[in-house]
Amino acid sequence: MTTETPVKDENVVWHQHAIDKAFRSQLKKQKPVVLWFTGLSGAGKSTVAGALETRLANSGYHTYLLDGDNVRHGLCSDLGFSEQDRRENIRRIGELAKLMADAGLIVLSAFISPHRAERQLVREMLPQGEFLEVFVNTSLDVCEQRDPKGLYKKARAGEISNFTGIDSEYQEPLNPEIDLLAGEKNIEALVDDCLAALQERGIIG
Ligand code: ADX
Repeated sequence: MTTETPVKDENVVWHQHAIDKAFRSQLKKQKPVVLWFTGLSGAGKSTVAGALETRLANSGYHTYLLDGDNVRHGLCSDLGFSEQDRRENIRRIGELAKLMADAGLIVLSAFISPHRAERQLVREMLPQGEFLEVFVNTSLDVCEQRDPKGLYKKARAGEISNFTGIDSEYQEPLNPEIDLLAGEKNIEALVDDCLAALQERGIIG
């Protein structure tokens, strides 16, 4: 099975370079993985991913955190929140995460990524076991109470349309590798849950 996306132009040929993923990972003395945080806006995706990245980096791991709001300032600044744009957003991030894993990094991505199909698409871009879906499982009620950016209030007032959880669907993961009770536990306990799951899979020592 290949993890490469089929190319439409037959004149574009994949070039195999001498330094490969295995070599780059070995240099970094680690196993690459993509930790894909998904959940509602305000669920705590960026906060948990950031705290986990800090713990990993302080232990000497090479990491990169891709964050929804940040990526939408650059790579995806041309995209909005229609179903089609969200699909393209996740496809691009998936390809980017795959390149970063190819560089030997531990990638943490924090995007609402509301649709199962797109998350599945990213899963299929990566080799088996290299995509871990992390459900930041915080109820809509709690997210709306937190409303850290005041966006739920705006969505309820009709000032923002297609807002996830209000007038745009969020499809919960059916079988996530990591299910974080992020409405109940504190950040450090959630980070511990992630580290335990990484240890269990032999990704970290
Ligand atoms: S995704 O659905 O395409 O995965 P992404 O994670 O990149 O979303 O961006 C979500 C962030 O954009 C939210 O945390 C919020 O700050 C902001 N945002 C602005 N408009 C919307 C909207 N209509 N729905 C959800 N989030 C929005």
